[in-house]
Amino acid sequence: MTFEKNILCIGAGYVGGPTMAMIAYKCPQYRVTVVDTNPERITAWNSDTLPIFEPGLDEIVKKVRGRNLFFSTQIERGIQEAGIIFVSVNTPIKTFGAGAGMAADLQYWEKTALQIREASQSDKIIVEKSTLPVKTALAMERILTATANGVHFDILSNPEFMAEGTGIRDLETPDRVLIGSRETSAGIKARDELLEIYANWVPRERIITSNIWSSELSKLVSNAFLAQRISSINAISSLCEKTEADVTEVARAVGMDSRLGDKFLNASIGFGGSCFKKDLLNLVYLCRQYGLEEVADYWEGVIRINDYQKERFILNMLDTMFNTLAGKKICLFGFAFKANTGDTRESPAIYVSRRLVEERSELVITDPRALINAQTDLADIKEKIDFIEDPYEAAAGCDAIAVMTEWDMYAELDFEKIYENMRKPAFIFDGRNILDHRNLFDTGFNVFPVGKPSLTHF
Ligand code: UDX
Ligand code: ADP
Repeated sequence: MTFEKNILCIGAGYVGGPTMAMIAYKCPQYRVTVVDTNPERITAWNSDTLPIFEPGLDEIVKKVRGRNLFFSTQIERGIQEAGIIFVSVNTPIKTFGAGAGMAADLQYWEKTALQIREASQSDKIIVEKSTLPVKTALAMERILTATANGVHFDILSNPEFMAEGTGIRDLETPDRVLIGSRETSAGIKARDELLEIYANWVPRERIITSNIWSSELSKLVSNAFLAQRISSINAISSLCEKTEADVTEVARAVGMDSRLGDKFLNASIGFGGSCFKKDLLNLVYLCRQYGLEEVADYWEGVIRINDYQKERFILNMLDTMFNTLAGKKICLFGFAFKANTGDTRESPAIYVSRRLVEERSELVITDPRALINAQTDLADIKEKIDFIEDPYEAAAGCDAIAVMTEWDMYAELDFEKIYENMRKPAFIFDGRNILDHRNLFDTGFNVFPVGKPSLTHF
């Protein structure tokens, strides 16, 4: 069978894998190949146990794998065969040198650009899919056009806005698809070719175009605004705890203002995930590069509140459990950075775990999907922690439970049974406000939600 287009994606991660699965699923007329330097990742994508957990992903991959979706380690061959190449390699924060702890580490990107340049024998469209600081497309363009071997490259920016846990729905019915291009005739032609792919299932009015820099910046700004909402409500949660206000009631009233909307106002232990902190740091770094110190400070405040929220949670635990956590057995309910994913990147649970071990607590961690990642994140202190999948077993003999992730299953547990098997007095710190606090209190627990009055028996 011949395909209308040959699409390649470099980087088989949380972005590349699901996005390409969706394109292959919606467009049987295209051949989609996903490559990665990591052979275990590719083997996993070709097996029954995919390397990432995302509701609905298994079904789609099963339908299209081997039909028009292929996972492979043959990067060079993939580049040669493709007319359009998505790049979704990782762009973590630099851990060394200039901009360490702030700027994006572009080594994987640069390596990919060089690889594309070396292997290409025909003209290609390159689509920037990973989050990158503004002006990276330009750097890519410079690398690709540095040798005049007659091959022409058009660079597009096409940021991915899907959120983990709802990735398949976000990809299937996106709020918008954004394509940034150069405003030359070649740039516009490339843009229209990418637009044509999405138009297979996304309504035309939801596909918007802009120049490359606006497109790159929009991704950073969207995530910065979302993160800012969480930090705003979390900042208010601390004020609520000092007063008689209840943050859920405040959020409901605020969210009903149609100018603000009701989403992303859940007070929590703090936001995590691979994007928010990284994108904020990139934004701050960019602003500082351009000498915009006040603007940089403003956005840095969003990260500061997030760090404060995590530390505040620990200080609350210390304060309520008689100023010492040493020798106390504490069970973390959830380790993933949010529900419906096994991803733990930047999860607040990492910080909380480290602090609890520092306070010499005995730590037990339970999570339905994230225990393997948790063990990697905490590899250096692993022997001090128990990892137990069953929440009843995990909580048995503990002094306190701390909810880190808003898994639905936690709200449905039999807390009477859990209470019976815990040490007394038993504490619950609900870092996600997902449990029935009044019920827990009646069962005998001392309950500490985020941003609302605690319910205690003493
Ligand atoms: C985010 C963006 O939403 C997405 O558009 C972008 O493409 C990638 O970054 P993601 O990191 O997958 O997606 O998760 P998201 O749902 O945004 O949640 C981020 C963090 O904020 C999680 O830790 C979540 O638990 C927390 N959160 C979210 C809150 O604490 N309160 C809320 O009200 C909402
Ligand atoms: P994201 O959440 O942005 O998708 P991940 O870390 O999940 O990030 O995925 C990025 C993937 O890119 C990883 O599987 C990594 O092995 C892969 N990768 C990094 N550099 C290269 C490269 N030069 N060529 C191919 N794949 C790469």
